[in-house]
Amino acid sequence: MNKLLLIFNLACSVAAFSQPGNYREKYRPRFHFSPAVNWCNDPNGLVYRNGVYHLFYQHNPFGNKWGHMTWAHATSTDLVHWKHLPIAIPEENGTMIFSGTCVTDLHNSSGLGSSISPPMVAVYTGHRENINQSQQLAFSKDGGITWTKYDHNPVLDLHKKDFRDPKIFWYDQKKYWVMCVMLPVEHQVQFYSSGNLKDWKHLSDFGPAGDTSGVWECPDLSQVPVDGMPGKKKWLLQTSQNASMQYFVGEFDGENFVNESPSGQVSRPDYGPDYYAAITYNQLPATSNPTAMGWVNNWNYANDIPTTPWKGAMSLPRTLSVKKLANGWMLVQKPISALQSLRKKELILPGGELSGIKPLPVKGRQFEMECSFEPSGGSVCGLRIAVGPDRYFEIGIDEARRKAYIDREHSSGNGFNEQFKKLSHFEKEITGKSRTVRVHVFFDNSIAEVFINEGEAVFTAQLFPGVKDEGIEVFCTAGKCKYSNFRFWQMNSAW
Ligand code: FRU
Repeated sequence: MNKLLLIFNLACSVAAFSQPGNYREKYRPRFHFSPAVNWCNDPNGLVYRNGVYHLFYQHNPFGNKWGHMTWAHATSTDLVHWKHLPIAIPEENGTMIFSGTCVTDLHNSSGLGSSISPPMVAVYTGHRENINQSQQLAFSKDGGITWTKYDHNPVLDLHKKDFRDPKIFWYDQKKYWVMCVMLPVEHQVQFYSSGNLKDWKHLSDFGPAGDTSGVWECPDLSQVPVDGMPGKKKWLLQTSQNASMQYFVGEFDGENFVNESPSGQVSRPDYGPDYYAAITYNQLPATSNPTAMGWVNNWNYANDIPTTPWKGAMSLPRTLSVKKLANGWMLVQKPISALQSLRKKELILPGGELSGIKPLPVKGRQFEMECSFEPSGGSVCGLRIAVGPDRYFEIGIDEARRKAYIDREHSSGNGFNEQFKKLSHFEKEITGKSRTVRVHVFFDNSIAEVFINEGEAVFTAQLFPGVKDEGIEVFCTAGKCKYSNFRFWQMNSAW
């Protein structure tokens, strides 16, 4: 390693290790991952190895806005408590390190390590501003702590300006690696195969399909179990397009992805404004459920959010499965159960019937809560959190329209960006016939994650309420509603 690079790496490590404010700053999430300082966007290279979950992420080591993209690194043994590690793969010679994945090359197919000590291989996009994006490798022989860029980069170059975000995994039936990678402008996922992670052969393309309103980014293909059909699995393809995500469910035979979701229908892993670039963990133990994490932010206002000295956080890790519907498939997501280790004492609150607004005898900015609502008579009802004088964040059910929604229009702190102000109301039809709707909320200072009906729909949203906006209410502004099964936990900090 040359001297300059060494100094650069040391400087970055110091930045990543220092923890100003000890994770107690205004708006700092306490049970979501966020970098100690500076900018972060997409999760990268999620991989499990020898009991450790690695999280790499898009990071600017030099500032609190997007730039100088570099892979920063953190690890965890439970996906709840995280340890910052030195910068993994820095920008160099005008090539930024864009999103990608990471695997342990167990049989040393790449020849970059040895079979006794299998290397970790990161496959990322090398980005040269306005010139080129190509797929490149870096490898680690010490379990992910230090990384070396491959001498013969790039390994896949179409000589295009936009060609990015490779997701790699081992496809055992054909004994090769598969890469899904995006042609953003064409709205296409391309599939490639390789025996050695270095030479890639084009297999097929998928798309355009579904939502093509923005450039496509960050493809993720993973196999997920089918609820209620033990042993059965389907393939889940997730893509991100500028400010939202979508998914397709179908089959993958090692060469082609065949979509079984009805055409014309757009299904989203998250119906809120702040879930993007999510990818799944590679090489989890066979007994683990597929697990994904996304970036909690939105390119429409990401650089302006009022958090300092950091910007950007990761969602709670979610386990994934799909459910068969009459016309296709539905993604079901659950917060990982390890989060329960942060719960303080459980409070069970009495249920009741309501029309109007009723404050609950609990409050806070760092909690988990579950409850059920049964609307009647055309009711619009639900929960308000982060409540202060005339201020609240609403999680509601609109019975007549059969929608679940979130609304941040009335929470304070929206004025920092016009787009943020505009993007305030998000909704999703409620599936199934049951009148009762289950709501499961995590609120972490400036992040709300809301799971409806056991994860059949999820909403993730940022909000920046005043320090005293910490009330919680049930409301019913039309008709009547019954509420029940209230369980509430203040959450300990993971930091
Ligand atoms: C998605 C994205 C990726 C790219 C990275 C750059 O948020 O735009 O397509 O690799 O961020 O930071």
